[in-house]
Amino acid sequence: RPNFIIAIDGYSSCGKSTVAKALAKKLHFVFIDSGAMYRAVTLYFLRHNVDLDDTAAVVQALADIHIDFIPNTAQTQILLNGEDISEEIRQMAVSEQVSEVSAIKEVRHAMVAQQQKLGSHRNIVMDGRDIGTTVFPDADLKIFMTASPSVRAERRYAELTAKGENVTMEEIQENLSHRDHIDSTREESPLRQAADAFILDNSDLTQDQQLEIVLNEYYRRK
Ligand code: C5P
Repeated sequence: RPNFIIAIDGYSSCGKSTVAKALAKKLHFVFIDSGAMYRAVTLYFLRHNVDLDDTAAVVQALADIHIDFIPNTAQTQILLNGEDISEEIRQMAVSEQVSEVSAIKEVRHAMVAQQQKLGSHRNIVMDGRDIGTTVFPDADLKIFMTASPSVRAERRYAELTAKGENVTMEEIQENLSHRDHIDSTREESPLRQAADAFILDNSDLTQDQQLEIVLNEYYRRK
């Protein structure tokens, strides 16, 4: 494989995508938010009332879903069957269902295959839960991010309330721990720290400090 792959995994709201975006910008790599793909599938399932226990319906829905990323804009856009859903997938209604949808084997197989294709010939930074373990077990650099639960909840609260969403701190804490629990206990590619991952706890680090540390790891492996 001639291209360089950076895999960033970790719990919900650890700041993975912030680091991933900064890294991609600095290195001129393509940033791929794998969580946005699971969120897009979840949005489609919600809109079409897909019964998560009905495997045939899930498989049919997956066949009808087409996801595209449009990079090179200020913010990468994600399209679901041509519609820009970048904002809508961040809403609490999607967050509340996404881990249940992401635990479905057929959903994971479809998304992992697409993610592997996206990284087959380009230099990429991909963030998610299973990138270093399942999607790209041979990634050139694997980072596992953690942060204290209170720091994570505060960050997510600030992010959502800044967008005008009406949520309480309790709802956020509940959603984060709910997702972490399902994500790390599901049967199919659960959230795990890869044995060869570099661990970054960013509870007390600024974004610039995080970027510097991760860049250092990149130059050591390049
Ligand atoms: O990264 P983000 O928090 O937006 O991801 C939303 C959800 O998508 C996660 O809580 C998890 O259930 C699912 N996900 C996953 N595997 C990935 C990325 C995200 O199961 N690689």
